[in-house]
Amino acid sequence: MSTHARITASVYTSHVPAIGVAMDQGRTQDPYWQPLFAGYESSRRWMDANRPDAIVLVYNDHANAFSLDMIPTFALGTAERYEPADEGWGPRAVPPVLGHGELAAHIAQSVIQQDFDLTLINRMTVDHGLTVPLSLMFGPQEPAAPSWPVPVIPLAVNVVQYPVPSGRRCLQLGQAIRRAVESFDTPLNVQVWGTGGMSHQLQGPRAGLINREWDQAFMDRLIADPRGLSEMPHLDYVREAGSEGIELVMWLIARGAMADLDGGGAPRVAHRFYHVPASNTAVGHLILENPDHATA
Ligand code: DHB
Ligand code: FE
Repeated sequence: MSTHARITASVYTSHVPAIGVAMDQGRTQDPYWQPLFAGYESSRRWMDANRPDAIVLVYNDHANAFSLDMIPTFALGTAERYEPADEGWGPRAVPPVLGHGELAAHIAQSVIQQDFDLTLINRMTVDHGLTVPLSLMFGPQEPAAPSWPVPVIPLAVNVVQYPVPSGRRCLQLGQAIRRAVESFDTPLNVQVWGTGGMSHQLQGPRAGLINREWDQAFMDRLIADPRGLSEMPHLDYVREAGSEGIELVMWLIARGAMADLDGGGAPRVAHRFYHVPASNTAVGHLILENPDHATA
């Protein structure tokens, strides 16, 4: 029995805002949405069986909590509580996100001392980038519930305004988060989630761009060749996966936190799903378990 916290699994998923709207309006069984939500049914069962004590949720804000006034590259949430953002139609009717102050403070200390100059956030709202992945994995919540089922430590990454961080830096940050979590002297089960993507472009002449082959190859390489994938330049993401496809660099942070990047065994693919379309994007989803933690 470990006396320290451990990263047991990583979860990857798109965050399309219309998914949240479909759930909030009870339209998940509409013909358009049914195949998308079917791809997350086993994920919710997996989450019931593998419920962690805390989630480090890597996501991007879409000019809701942040703006062009200040652009942190990597911002760690150290607050006790985050309310859903008002993205123009009022805040989503979902519970507040409760943080994990002690683990977040430890991650901040450890990761900054490993030479990553994080921004620390003690007050912010969280937009669809964070709440839609929670909805997909935990299912509908009573809006009046005091919180989501699991405490969440948000890690907001700038992928909205260039310059954005490199894939290599994202992978390294994941490795640093792993060292931070595993040096926390409480035996917590921690998951790291990487969210956003897959291929999509929301504006300009290429609006609506979807690249299925590239998306599938990205997931193949994320599983089997994360170091090689982390060397891929930004231009490749934007050319092949559209301007918003760059959100996918965030998946490399969660991948970097897995055991095999730290001398451990390869992860087990507990679930893989891909679906087109959801709004303007392709939806990709993976669950990877660390080998000493596989449930099957
Ligand atoms: C859409 C997708 C996104 O990732 C986002 O942040 C906003 C909108 C879309 O497909 O509409
Ligand atoms: Fe987005």
